Amino acid sequence: MSNTQKKVLLPVPVSSEEIKKGYAALSRFYAVVEGIFEKGLRRKGLKLLSLKAGEVVLEIGFGTGYSLKEITNSVGKNGKAYGIDITPEMHKISRKRLKKAGLMNRVELYEGDARSMPYEDSKFDAVYMASTLELFDTPDIPRVLGEIRRVLKPSGRLCVVSLTKKDKEDSLFIRFYEWLHQKFPKYFSCRPIYVAEAVKDAGYKITKTSEFTIARLVPWELVLVKPENKR
Ligand SMILES: C[S@@+](CC[C@H](N)C(=O)[O-])C[C@H]1O[C@@H](n2cnc3c(N)ncnc32)[C@H](O)[C@@H]1O
Repeated sequence: MSNTQKKVLLPVPVSSEEIKKGYAALSRFYAVVEGIFEKGLRRKGLKLLSLKAGEVVLEIGFGTGYSLKEITNSVGKNGKAYGIDITPEMHKISRKRLKKAGLMNRVELYEGDARSMPYEDSKFDAVYMASTLELFDTPDIPRVLGEIRRVLKPSGRLCVVSLTKKDKEDSLFIRFYEWLHQKFPKYFSCRPIYVAEAVKDAGYKITKTSEFTIARLVPWELVLVKPENKR
């Protein structure tokens, strides 16, 4: 198989409403999964983003608020954290987590779709998106990355953490996962993508990339990028 033939992304044949329903059902178990399996991945993503006190930061698809709590702590009292997620049940769990940590007054949550965000242009120093870009259908990936570019300051940065297909096209895990995605798209709505290529195509310049494998099986790509030629 040639390289170009291999670089095929599967479509996501599920509407946002169905994805939302899926995450509503998953929300109660998700906190357990992320705590056990994805802790190291999240730590690595946030380290790559390397937040500073006083920054204004957005997390897209914050899920149960695990990283959003870390983000809010990192930017401190002089900074501000924002989160956008489409699933009301995820908001409930995150609010509970943030309230318990006494951080609710330093974070603003918005229930909505990342394809069209309510924030003004050039608002954020940094945007973080983990395990979420790969949920969007192929034509929506540049749309979401374009929205992020719009809300990022020209000097801002974006960190994307995503299930990847890069150099893993022939891995049994990827083939099995893609089979599950095609067979049961409502339950396996995300699929592996090519992260570095997607961000470059959407007008970003790569600062740093990294990889992570969960249980020696599940490959992740982490990229830190800046918007190119944004004034
Ligand atoms: C796999 S979870 C990732 C949660 C968290 N970022 C993490 O690392 O565990 C994906 C999240 O994206 C949210 N989501 C899905 N589609 C979305 C959309 N169109 N706009 C905003 N959030 C969305 C879901 O509700 C869910 O909370």
